Amino acid sequence: MQSSQRANLSGQVAIVTGAARGIGQACACALAAEGADIVTADLGPSDATLARVRELGRRALDVPTDVTRRDSVARLVEQAVAQMGRIDIVINNAGTLARVGVEDTTDEIWDRDVDTTLRGTFYMIQAVLPHMKERRYGKIVNISSISGKIGGVSSRAAGSTKGRSGPAYAAAKGGVLALTKWVAKDAGRDGIYVNAVAPGGVDTDMTRGFDYGVDSIPIPRIGQPEDIAQAVVYLASQMSNYVTGSVLDVNGGLI
Ligand SMILES: NC(=O)c1ccc[n+]([C@@H]2O[C@H](COP(=O)([O-])OP(=O)(O)OC[C@H]3O[C@@H](n4cnc5c(N)ncnc54)[C@H](O)[C@@H]3O)[C@@H](O)[C@H]2O)c1
Repeated sequence: MQSSQRANLSGQVAIVTGAARGIGQACACALAAEGADIVTADLGPSDATLARVRELGRRALDVPTDVTRRDSVARLVEQAVAQMGRIDIVINNAGTLARVGVEDTTDEIWDRDVDTTLRGTFYMIQAVLPHMKERRYGKIVNISSISGKIGGVSSRAAGSTKGRSGPAYAAAKGGVLALTKWVAKDAGRDGIYVNAVAPGGVDTDMTRGFDYGVDSIPIPRIGQPEDIAQAVVYLASQMSNYVTGSVLDVNGGLI
């Protein structure tokens, strides 16, 4: 390998979950800009993302997927291999966030946030590993959160004190970090890299209307989806070929 190289993802295929908007859309576009063909996997169609990927001259396949369902994830992987020929990269980005305290965390809220983030990431990894092992190559990037490291991030909605990310979300994102490290230890010998990105507050539908107190962040602004996508490109590319089981903080220096 050269001592310095750019991310060249030409000929590679990446699955991005939760790709219809926000951070997932930015990841799909940033990977496509480096040459990857993209498979989008969100609950519904990812039309805007598909259009942007195709504008970049890359192939794009949409497989609407519910990552909380094993059969849906199996179908996604099957379709991606059948129609795109291979899977080099998986970005586990789909997530939901309830901003409630312990007392208000119902079974439904717990199941939704934990299933989407933690179970969904597990199902994706389990489904794609046999293919990656056979090819002896794979880059898996799991989108965790600063909430999973520090136990929820404070934010405020206008006129309310409510806004801190809830216990189900924080626990699920912490679980993703442990899962990342577990799988990384097992898969490294098969040429499979597993890392996580832990974003701070990022300007998307998930955070709109909430104040993250950006004046106290060393880089005093809210994150943009592209800030996260650039970290993802690094971990999805050959630029990070001696990096596995790691967590890359992208939070403007907040922690
Ligand atoms: N925005 C932030 O401040 C922030 C900070 C840290 C981590 N994150 C994480 O980044 C990821 C993306 O967040 P975002 O801010 O772009 O949020 P977003 O709400 O804009 O996008 C999330 C996407 O995930 C999809 N999704 C939800 N449940 C799904 C399921 N069961 N199967 C498939 N897709 C599903 C949604 O339809 C949506 O398109 C999430 O995992 C989130 O927890 C976001």
